[in-house]
Amino acid sequence: MNSIRSTAARAVHRVVTSRTPLDLDRESVPGKDRALLQEIVMGTLRNYQGICAVIRGLTASSKSRLDPLLEALLASGLYQLLYTGIPVYATVSETVNAARELHLGRASGLVNAVMRRAAAPDFRKEDMLKKEEEIYSCPSWLLRRLKTDHPERWQDILKASNSRPPMWIRVDLTRTTRDEYTAKLDESGIAVADTAGDAGIKLAVTCPASRLPGIREGLCYVQDASAQAAAVYLDPQPGERILDACAAPGGKTTHILEITGGKARVDALDISSGRLLRLQENLKSRGLTIRVMEGDAADPAPWWDREPYDRILLDAPCSGTGVLRRHPDIKHIRTEKDIAKLAAGQQAMLEGLWTLLRPGGTLLYSTCSVLRQEDQDQIDAFLERHRDEACHLPLPESVHITGDGDRDGFFYAALARKPLKA
Ligand SMILES: C[S@@+](CC[C@H](N)C(=O)[O-])C[C@H]1O[C@@H](n2cnc3c(N)ncnc32)[C@H](O)[C@@H]1O
Repeated sequence: MNSIRSTAARAVHRVVTSRTPLDLDRESVPGKDRALLQEIVMGTLRNYQGICAVIRGLTASSKSRLDPLLEALLASGLYQLLYTGIPVYATVSETVNAARELHLGRASGLVNAVMRRAAAPDFRKEDMLKKEEEIYSCPSWLLRRLKTDHPERWQDILKASNSRPPMWIRVDLTRTTRDEYTAKLDESGIAVADTAGDAGIKLAVTCPASRLPGIREGLCYVQDASAQAAAVYLDPQPGERILDACAAPGGKTTHILEITGGKARVDALDISSGRLLRLQENLKSRGLTIRVMEGDAADPAPWWDREPYDRILLDAPCSGTGVLRRHPDIKHIRTEKDIAKLAAGQQAMLEGLWTLLRPGGTLLYSTCSVLRQEDQDQIDAFLERHRDEACHLPLPESVHITGDGDRDGFFYAALARKPLKA
């Protein structure tokens, strides 16, 4: 079996060079090592541009680029040294061993030297970070956009993006109370740090989801506090016909069903059959059955039964720029061109779904993006195109959760379809 350090370096290398999404589930590592692997890979990807500046500083290799796998190995080793409390000796020796395992044995002297210099007591990584892209470990296009879209908060947003995310769960209030569930957590030795909304609990320390009491039976769901606002803002009522249009894996579908006590007629739609399987599993573990459809939200004709919906949730596919701390691979995979494509897709979905809404009905649009093009601009343009039939509904709190606190960055807008004139 490969060591944790070489597995981590390969995983980082794959994301950075081939722009493929991170998939740590495919790595075969002993269960006890999974948390360490995750910490190293996620942390390295979050701080990659900054760490690479340190590597350049320590190897004086600004011109001749290092072998990309060697760079990924050095970056993951330096991440452990400079950003975690993992003991120096273990980090240096394990990283040098991993170089041999990765057939980079000829560079083991370089690896050893770089790691030792970074471990010196007077070494300060901040001295080597000059450009903003390095200080914030952020691609320049995204940095530019965040500065424009959030002139007051871009630095806080980026700092939060590079931090370890807290773990939030949502308690199923139809089957327990938050106090009762908190007591169960306490019995399992899991401490609570905070609460949000009616059902949200922030854990003091992240733990494997499998340790959460009743998770298999659906007593709770792992979901950030910002995402928990979707079903609340949708405000679903018993007896209504509701469409969750981009539903998989069902975090918000199950919440809608909980809020309505199973008394609403909820349809769940998604384009991905693989993700719909996960939604079905989530429903089954809670003993819930609803209509689940595979289809394109932008093209309702093949799946819509012609009965209008009272409420529609469009939790649109987006850049994920509000959840970079949970998905740091996004910084390495997305390009600026993707944003225009995503925005065009979101617009097509908004247009497709709008026609399914009954007059007087509500559509809640949400993204986990903090970019205006996918958020406020998208909604402003929609309202401009549908001036006669759509209006903006106020929401209880800021629609733009920028993700600079302990919640993910999210955007919400509620659109009402004006009733027909008599
Ligand atoms: C943000 S995720 C949804 C998360 C989900 N609402 C939850 O809370 O668990 C976006 C989803 O949109 C789906 N999707 C992407 N394009 C779509 C389309 N054209 N029509 C329907 N679903 C689509 C993706 O497969 C993905 O599951």
